[in-house]
Amino acid sequence: MTISHPVHLDCDTGVDDALALAHLLARPHVDLVSVSTVSGNTTAERAAVNTIDLLSLAGRDEIPVAVGAHEPLVGGYRGGAPQVHGENGIGGVELSRARRAPTGRSGPEQIVQSARARTGELVLLAIGPLTNLALALALDPELPRLVRRVVVMGGAVWVPGNITEHAEANIANDPEAARAVFTAEWPVTLVPLDVTLQHSIGVAEQRALSQRGTAFHTALAAMLDTYLDFYERFYGERRAALHDPLASMIAVGDSTPSEVRRTALEVDPSHLQTRGRTRAREEGAAAEVITAVSAPAAPALLEQILALTPVETTGA
Ligand code: BDR
Ligand code: CA
Repeated sequence: MTISHPVHLDCDTGVDDALALAHLLARPHVDLVSVSTVSGNTTAERAAVNTIDLLSLAGRDEIPVAVGAHEPLVGGYRGGAPQVHGENGIGGVELSRARRAPTGRSGPEQIVQSARARTGELVLLAIGPLTNLALALALDPELPRLVRRVVVMGGAVWVPGNITEHAEANIANDPEAARAVFTAEWPVTLVPLDVTLQHSIGVAEQRALSQRGTAFHTALAAMLDTYLDFYERFYGERRAALHDPLASMIAVGDSTPSEVRRTALEVDPSHLQTRGRTRAREEGAAAEVITAVSAPAAPALLEQILALTPVETTGA
């Protein structure tokens, strides 16, 4: 089969990041070229450990994982979201430790290297704070013309935020980086809370994952417990938002946007209560903001992840 979607994933793994990773690994038309991590749900370092261990469970140790920025561009890392994702980012689940370390490259260096290796083809999928992307732009000013498109899970454009009344977590954790990414000359698709909160996963899907019978799927099911605990308050039932998986599905054509607004994006850089708010504005470079997709994401996502058969490793 022709590989039609080379993807670099930038993430803060994270329970829903883990589901997005599983989705990308599961899809035959996706070539997950490389991963970089950033501090968000947990530290960049811990997110790399989580990612490497998940890749190992899936038998995909060949995919390079680079540790990216620990701190945002301005200020310091504020300690993640243990109430949403658990103390270790993956709901307290202890995965078997993989035998490999992250690549020696930094996250931004890895982004530039992958973009140069696949000039004009690479989809840059960012599902954490945008620090690594902003640093990669500074590292290589040619980057915008090297990538095919940038898909970002982040922002709350016409709905309230989730980390504050105004702001969504990925953008609020590094507003200066988001601003750099939204004003660069590359095609940006934003997958904000406006659409991700419309899609959720619940106990039936969790059960199906745990019954699949591989260590990889069992780990995903187990980490969902913490995530469901948190979101139960929001949905009024045991369901949790599909933020990052919806972005990965859109990035590789597994979910079709049915409502797209083209607008420039403005990020509030102030240190007021509105810091990190993402708003549409009239003039300037336009992004594509997805506010609805044509079908519920959870059934397709589940089917796709269940179809993943972890690659046998020799254990060497
Ligand atoms: C985003 O923030 C993180 O908690 C999630 O992984 C997702 O990327 C949702 O606001
Ligand atoms: Ca994330």
